[in-house]
Amino acid sequence: MNKRDEIMRISETELAAQRQFSEEFKALPHRPQTYYIVTYGCQMNAHDSEKLAGMLEGMGMRPAPAKEEADFVLHNTCCIRDNAERKALGNVTWLKEIKKERPGLLIGVCGCMVQEPGMADKLLRQYPFVDVAFGTGNIHQLPELLYRAAETRRRVVAVPDEQSTIAEGLPIRRESPFQAYVTIMYGCNNFCSYCIVPYVRGRERSREADDIMREVETLQKQGVKEIMLLGQNVNSYGSDVPGGVTFPRLLRRVTETGIPRVRFMTSHPKDLSDELVEEMASNPALCRHLHLPVQSGSNRILQAMNRKYTRETYLEKVEKIRRAAPDVGLTTDIIVAFPGETDRDFEDTMDLARQVCYDSAFTFIYSPRVGTRAAEMPGRIDPALATERIGRLIALQEEMTGRRFAEMTGKTEQVLVTGRSKRSETQFTGKTSRNISVNFEGNERMIGQIIPVAITAASKTTLKGTVREGENNEPASHR
Ligand code: 5AD
Ligand code: SF4
Repeated sequence: MNKRDEIMRISETELAAQRQFSEEFKALPHRPQTYYIVTYGCQMNAHDSEKLAGMLEGMGMRPAPAKEEADFVLHNTCCIRDNAERKALGNVTWLKEIKKERPGLLIGVCGCMVQEPGMADKLLRQYPFVDVAFGTGNIHQLPELLYRAAETRRRVVAVPDEQSTIAEGLPIRRESPFQAYVTIMYGCNNFCSYCIVPYVRGRERSREADDIMREVETLQKQGVKEIMLLGQNVNSYGSDVPGGVTFPRLLRRVTETGIPRVRFMTSHPKDLSDELVEEMASNPALCRHLHLPVQSGSNRILQAMNRKYTRETYLEKVEKIRRAAPDVGLTTDIIVAFPGETDRDFEDTMDLARQVCYDSAFTFIYSPRVGTRAAEMPGRIDPALATERIGRLIALQEEMTGRRFAEMTGKTEQVLVTGRSKRSETQFTGKTSRNISVNFEGNERMIGQIIPVAITAASKTTLKGTVREGENNEPASHR
């Protein structure tokens, strides 16, 4: 083990102690038998929930069909915006009533929100019915924390002051047999002035490439079709490892395993390198999708956001990727009503969105987060004006999405079939390499396969298509 590993890895001794807690938990009389995890927020959280579920099953627990029936309900929370936090706290409070009828019910809260300064205290004071609370840095300790809560019936809270570790080797209960998340790095160093992530997820730390490769190879052998590599800023992967592998080189190694499709999230525009653009252009196993959050089209606001790029350098990068790989679809995140945003700044954002013509955009009204620099900035925008701006941006994006989708009709796309459509019994749904949903008439056998679908029509959010006759279940060479 090298020096960096010793500092950052959760030790084998600690993991063995947790396994011991799992065994002791199984032997507890009247212990909880079933669990239900409610997940909020991003893919990182969704993947953390797969690890939490893996550990709970290692403790002998089974998933409950609904939270009302579970013995242990765990909320894996998000705090990126105020509404995410309110929703989680609202749902936790709702369980209080269920607990009155079933006092044996254990309630847990974990994830980013718990890691916020002051939140653990607030939970202790204002939410006395919460039995277990722990931050993103304590996930690996779940067996111990739950054991203590179940054994003593006392409340257990664990939040580290600082997050600087990587937990390798945790069991994972994956949601899908053909799509898988693989975390490549934790935390973020960017301190965008509006964002709470660096405070709740800690500093950037990359997993060792060999650990990532071992996980990917296992998934490939299991027949997984699509891997999503996860990190807050995947483009700076490896910059904290002396002599480490760059992100484009990691991508090459991952695709060399023979995994048909590889995606990644999220790219910070300032770190999007020429090497990555070249890799996207030349490597057919990389999905034709790049999520490149711009946040604003105004240089003044970008600077106040501490984004470290300008509208012009962002557009240059867009141009580069479009020239090298014209079939790559771009998506973005945009914040409106950042403190001090003038009409002119907002028009710059509208103008940029029009110019880039994204496939889709996640749009947010700025939400002040305690502890971040932007929360102290003057020039709060009137909520009515913020709503009006976001409405205009959404309408513009719908028009752009419509344009992009219309370009796709008449083409044949390779679609990874993910399941039944919610709307109809015979309709199935899947994703193109460009990450656009397609609905089509299909059958159960197609689920988990990559099949050719001719695009026949487009709605605001999805494409419609028909499976190409005679090619239904043929293996696709790529994407
Ligand atoms: N207010 C509004 N949106 C935010 N985001 C992050 N922090 C905030 C905030 N305080 C958005 C950014 C980011 C996405 C994940 O969430 O657009 O890219
Ligand atoms: Fe937040 Fe910026 Fe880091 Fe993204 S890059 S997680 S927006 S601080």
